[in-house]
Amino acid sequence: MKWMNEQRDAQAAISEESWTVRGGAQVTLRAARVSDHGRLRAFVDGLSRESRYFRFLTGGPVANETLARFVSRRQDRDVALVVTFGEVIVANAEYVVNDEGLAELAVVVADNWQGQGLGRRLIQRLQQLARAASLRGMRGDVLSENRRMLAIMRDCGFATRRNPEDSLLHEVSLTLAEPRKAPAPSAPSAEWLPRDWFAAN
Ligand SMILES: CC(C)(COP(=O)(O)OP(=O)(O)OC[C@H]1O[C@@H](n2cnc3c(N)ncnc32)[C@H](O)[C@@H]1OP(=O)(O)O)[C@@H](O)C(=O)NCCC(=O)NCCS
Repeated sequence: MKWMNEQRDAQAAISEESWTVRGGAQVTLRAARVSDHGRLRAFVDGLSRESRYFRFLTGGPVANETLARFVSRRQDRDVALVVTFGEVIVANAEYVVNDEGLAELAVVVADNWQGQGLGRRLIQRLQQLARAASLRGMRGDVLSENRRMLAIMRDCGFATRRNPEDSLLHEVSLTLAEPRKAPAPSAPSAEWLPRDWFAAN
C-alpha cells in the first residue's frame, strides 16, 4: 500500500492554520480528509449555479466520483485543501500534478464567503506548496467570463492567455523553476592555470 503512505505523507505535511477573513470570522485551513466526503457534498450542492459552472464547468449536479477523487484518490504529490467554519466547509482548493510536472489548480469559495480574501489566500497557499515541492510550474483553465478569477491569478503572478483552440477558456500559467540547462562551455578560468602562471607573466 505504498501510495497510501505517500498520500498520508503529502497531506500530513500540510499543517492546520487559523485564518481571519475580511469580515472578521475565524476559519481553519487544513488538508482534506476521506471523512470530509459528506461535508464536501453539502458544500458543492450549496453552491450557486454560476459558482458550480465556473469551478466544474457544469451548472448541474457534481458526480460523487469527482468528490471522492478530491478527498481520497490522490497521487503522492497532489494537494487538496479545505477551509472550514466550525464543521462546515466554506472553500476548497486543490492541485493535481500532471504528466509534465505542472500543478493543475482549481479553487472554489462558497457564495456567501466570496470577496473576503479566501480565494486569493488559497491560491497563494497552493503556490507556496508547489514551490516547496519543487514543482516546475502551475497551470489552470479558467472560463474567459470569470473576470474575478482571472484578475486574482494575474495579481498572484500568473500569465493569462486566451486558449487558441477554445475562446471560452483562458489558460493561466506560472513558472516556478526553470528546467536546468546544461552548463555553457566557458573560457578557461584562472583556477585551471598552473599555479605559477601569474608570476611568470
Ligand atoms: C474566484 C473565487 C475563487 C475567488 O475567491 P474570493 O474569495 O471570492 O476572492 P477574494 O476575496 O480572495 O478576492 C477577490 C478579488 O477579486 C477582485 N474582483 C472581484 N470581482 C471582480 C471582477 N468582477 N473583476 C475583476 N476583479 C474582481 C477583487 O478586487 C478582489 O481583490 P481584493 O482582494 O484586492 O479586494 C471565488 O469567487 C469563487 O469560488 N468563484 C466561483 C468558482 C470559481 O470561479 N473558481 C475558479 C475556477 S478555476
